Amino acid sequence: MTTTTAADFLPADRDIDSLRSAAASCQGCGLYRHATQTVFGDGPDDAKLLVVGEQPGDKEDTAGEPFVGPAGSLLGRALTEAGIDRREAYVTNAVKHFKFVLPERGKRRIHQKPSRTEVVACRPWLVAEVSTLRPDLVLCLGATAAQAVLGTSFRITRQRGQLLEWDSDEAGEIADPPAVLATTHPASVLRARDEDRKRAYADLVDDLRVAAQALTG
Ligand code: URA
Ligand code: SF4
Repeated sequence: MTTTTAADFLPADRDIDSLRSAAASCQGCGLYRHATQTVFGDGPDDAKLLVVGEQPGDKEDTAGEPFVGPAGSLLGRALTEAGIDRREAYVTNAVKHFKFVLPERGKRRIHQKPSRTEVVACRPWLVAEVSTLRPDLVLCLGATAAQAVLGTSFRITRQRGQLLEWDSDEAGEIADPPAVLATTHPASVLRARDEDRKRAYADLVDDLRVAAQALTG
């Protein structure tokens, strides 16, 4: 038996609108069952920067757009500080449905990390977004995004903030793959202990400056 993945739902015609509408009815893994909707990437077709997060959160699941919650606000602020206008970037996630557990009634749904199987099942959407948009740089936020793009041996702690080549084994069908840079996830800055938060934010902005330099350089 072959496993279902997002590849089974990819449209023949690949522009970003046809991808978005096909992804709306994806059942490539089990996550579509409990989430409100597919949260596909968003941003201009000619974006030079493609930003990849982990998966939509509670707010994104309701809104149907990526990074519209607290992590998104922090991301926008950090990008601006690094000299990048978020509105010029295409922003998406490694996994396009919200995975959560339901706490007691009335409480906000709690985010759960997607499994490797779910990341792999959803990856065809990300590959299709990159192949269609052909950005100059892919910026990965956090380990899930970085490993979705670069493979499971990638370690954020060792390789964050470095401009990397996307080697052909991992880039697969992406012809002439863009450069990749990984940094921490903005949500991890929000979760940091009070005394560590400033540093974590400054480190994020430093990495984003490397991205800004690569985009203009
Ligand atoms: N965190 C993510 O990784 N992606 C979002 O879209 C929102 C929060
Ligand atoms: Fe499809 Fe990805 Fe949603 Fe799974 S998470 S159903 S692969 S869009």
